Amino acid sequence: MIVSPQKASELIRKGELVALPTETVYGLAADAFNAVAVRKTFELKNRPSANPLIVHISEISQLGMFTGHRSDSETLLKLTEAFWPGPLTLVVPRKKKVLDIVTGGLETVAIRMPDHPKTLSVIQNSMPVTAPSANRSGRPSPTKVQHVLEDFGETLPVVDGGDCAIGLESTVVDITNDNPVILRPGKISPEMLSDILGVEVGIQSKKSSTSARSPGTRYTHYKPDAEVRWMKRRQPDIYNENTFQVYHTITPEDPGPNSIHFHGDFDEMARALYDLYRTADRKNLQTIFIEPLPEHHPHPLLPALQNRIQHSVNQ
Ligand code: TXA
Ligand code: MG
Repeated sequence: MIVSPQKASELIRKGELVALPTETVYGLAADAFNAVAVRKTFELKNRPSANPLIVHISEISQLGMFTGHRSDSETLLKLTEAFWPGPLTLVVPRKKKVLDIVTGGLETVAIRMPDHPKTLSVIQNSMPVTAPSANRSGRPSPTKVQHVLEDFGETLPVVDGGDCAIGLESTVVDITNDNPVILRPGKISPEMLSDILGVEVGIQSKKSSTSARSPGTRYTHYKPDAEVRWMKRRQPDIYNENTFQVYHTITPEDPGPNSIHFHGDFDEMARALYDLYRTADRKNLQTIFIEPLPEHHPHPLLPALQNRIQHSVNQ
């Protein structure tokens, strides 16, 4: 059910859940200091309880509600100044009063300031909120209001903020140690972070990502029911009514019956990816073939696109 930002603030203050738009994907918001409300997000999403949530704030001054240690840290100041509001989540040491259910029992908390006027006003008029992506656990994140309603039905209150501008979840960076490390790639690329910080910032390698430092990577993600596969060089004979082909660079002689071409526009490809997954499922398609992404290309979204698609290929 579509509700106004004012109504959403009211519901959040009462401990209800509301789906809110952000520039990345829609989030399922609950008052970050109401344990009963936060627990409801895990139940509704069917999310493993050890997978911690991102706290969303609307003003820098609210950082102090969640983290004290190093709140004057140069890294934190530089990154928030450069990228907030925006698609960057910072993992910082938590204050004791932050709920365990929010952090999954970790000593850190993840925080971001989303770049969407409606959601900033909802938070402003209620509380900082926890907001995992507003999808059932294991489904692609929602980038349109209809996706949220598809997963949770008409009874869930949703603020309609239009289609998400970026379409992939925020970059998550752990800045608790001296060497910041990206736990989840997103729109804010390693180069953009390095430019601001003056140090190399890497993406955490797959091997070490089973560690507690990035708990979310242990769980099923970004997966349509259709099988997702990288295209091989020549295989048009296996494209049929039950397959979908995604191109971005090559000009295929025979693209197959269902296909889309992004013509090098990786921003558009990121915006469209999860909708494309969901559309394939609605049509009961069997396989989505995706043209392999270029490896040495300066577009900042490529590591994030590669990461999300690779997750769906693996599962
Ligand atoms: O763009 C986004 O970040 C969206 C929108 C709604 O803001 N939210 C989102 O939330 O993607 P979620 O819950 O689907 O993903 C949060 C990720 C998970 O991989 C989780 O494990 C990680 O952030 N995370 C949360 N708290 C953490 C912490 N303290 N340390 C390490 N990773 C953490
Ligand atoms: Mg998610």
